[in-house]
Amino acid sequence: MPLSYEEIISHESQGNPAEGLRRLVLRGSVAATARPGQFLHVRVSDRLEPLLRRPLSIASIDRTRGEVTLLYRVRGRGTETLARKRSGERLDVLGPLGNGFSIPEKGELWLVAGGIGIFPLYALARAGLAAGLKVHLFWGGESRNFLQSAGLAEWQDLGIPLHLSTMDGSLGDKGTVMLPLGKAEDPRSAANRLSGQPLPALSVAVCGPRGMMQAVAELGSARGWRVEVSLEERMACGVGACLGCSVTVRDERGRLTNRKVCQDGPVFPGKEVVWNGAR
Ligand SMILES: Cc1cc2nc3c(=O)[nH]c(=O)nc-3n(C[C@H](O)[C@H](O)[C@H](O)COP(=O)(O)OP(=O)(O)OC[C@H]3O[C@@H](n4cnc5c(N)ncnc54)[C@H](O)[C@@H]3O)c2cc1C
Ligand code: FES
Repeated sequence: MPLSYEEIISHESQGNPAEGLRRLVLRGSVAATARPGQFLHVRVSDRLEPLLRRPLSIASIDRTRGEVTLLYRVRGRGTETLARKRSGERLDVLGPLGNGFSIPEKGELWLVAGGIGIFPLYALARAGLAAGLKVHLFWGGESRNFLQSAGLAEWQDLGIPLHLSTMDGSLGDKGTVMLPLGKAEDPRSAANRLSGQPLPALSVAVCGPRGMMQAVAELGSARGWRVEVSLEERMACGVGACLGCSVTVRDERGRLTNRKVCQDGPVFPGKEVVWNGAR
């Protein structure tokens, strides 16, 4: 079990404090092997309460410096406790855990995020660019304020096409991320129908609310895209022992079977997930 004590290099509020977002930079052994889409299971307290670790995605990886960055929203007791940790302290983490996203060999890589589902996608964007892929980001959030707080400037610095939406219309299309996704995908499909030429292979990585991931997975099935979704379930052990994070998937032969999000995921092929099935 990959247990380590990472040094907290910095730990601060990110963006507008009202959004409750925090950036945590850790230095230690995790960066050497971490891959985009994997997560750390973090012991938030040195006391017995809260007892259970909390899963947080690895948002970016800097192997040269031996650092990983976690971005998180303070939600309840666990993340509130974590938010009190200071630079210079050691953080007890299990990980990197989980399978992570695949990085296609060629073609286009579209990243689709809803809200704080953006966090695990930044490391993937950088890995995709390093592999020479054409990367696009589709990202929907509540407001301009949220997108800016959650790291929009860093995404702009990557120099990739950004297709944005906000629920209040303060930036990009007004509505969910399905709007800019539809706008980019319609002409792509239409051009393909007219020309009959095969389009560059499209891989799509999705993270966000369940309904949005389902919508992208279904669109992807209809269009023949290779879609991967990062599922979020409450976790206890984080290492496959308690079955607390089981989800139902359909295997290659169409049979329903259970998988553990912590160990078999959190990334699954979109076509395998049984969206309305028992969890
Ligand atoms: C693989 C994975 C990666 C994650 N990566 C990140 C990340 O990078 N950044 C981030 O901010 N969050 C991430 N999360 C979610 C994060 O783990 C939870 O927000 C956190 O555990 C909440 O703990 P808490 O004690 O603060 O809140 P709690 O007091 O435990 O819960 C507060 C509220 O959040 C809900 N909640 C808690 N955990 C989950 C969950 N896993 N799924 C759905 N609802 C939940 C509860 O039902 C409750 O309403 C990830 C979750 C998983 C499974
Ligand atoms: S959290 Fe225990 S099996 Fe996944």
